[in-house]
Order: sequence, then structure tokens, then C-alpha cells
Amino acid sequence: MDEQEILDILRETKKQALAQYSNFHVSAVLVTNDEHAVAGINIESSSYGLTICAERVALFKALSEGYRKFDRLYVMSDLKEPCPPCGACRQMLIDYAPNIRVIMYSSDGKKEEAFLKDLLPNAFHGQGLTK
Ligand code: THU
Repeated sequence: MDEQEILDILRETKKQALAQYSNFHVSAVLVTNDEHAVAGINIESSSYGLTICAERVALFKALSEGYRKFDRLYVMSDLKEPCPPCGACRQMLIDYAPNIRVIMYSSDGKKEEAFLKDLLPNAFHGQGLTK
């Protein structure tokens, strides 16, 4: 999948964002290790704290479809600067997709890239939890 295809998916998907309270539209595309792309949008609630970010929607969709190995995540918002995932999303991604690269785009395609591990240093991995 080339960059233009990804940008097209991010832009089209972002139109579906259910951002009626914040008016901040976000899309994410999680790519599996076998190059399957799963897209997500942010979905807001009238009980604001129940809102879920685009990144976690993409992750949960992919997990519930049985995907377990991931290569990278793309994110785009309405911002003029690339949009980094929030802390809650970083933790869920560390739990299920620890080795991914995160490619963040501004609305006009400006790009920043980082390894997820560098976005959440010294992460909690469940050490000490009773199994
Ligand atoms: N949001 C995301 O979907 N992803 C992010 O990385 C940052 C924030 C959403 C949550 C909420 O619907 C809106 O953006 C404003 O916080």
C-alpha cells in the first residue's frame, strides 16, 4: 500500500468520525504484518468520558477480527500538525501491538513518525499481575 492510498483512506475514513461534541475528527489505520489495513474513527458519547479514540477503534476492530500481529499505525486529524495518539491509546497499543511504528499526519499530509515504544517509555506490561 503506497502513501497516497493510505492518505486517501485516512481522509475518507475521517469523514465518518462521530465527533459531534468536540468537532475534532480523527481517523486511524492499523496495518497488520500481512498488510491488511483496518480503519477506525473517533466515536464520541453524550457522556463525554465514554468517548473512544480512532486508534483504539482501529485496534479493537482488528483484534475482534482475529488479527494479532501488527506492523504500523497511521493517524490523521483536523490539525495542521501531525496528531500523536493519546496516553490511553498508547497503553492499549503497547499491550497488543508493541512493536509498531506510528505514522502521524496533519490534515494536509505533513508527516511525523516514531516507534510506539519511544512514545511510551518505561511502559507497564502487566508485570506483577496474577496470571
Ligand atoms: N482523539 C482521537 O481519536 N485520537 C487522538 O489521538 C486524540 C483524540 C479524539 C477523542 C475525541 O473524540 C476528540 O479526538 C477530542 O479529544
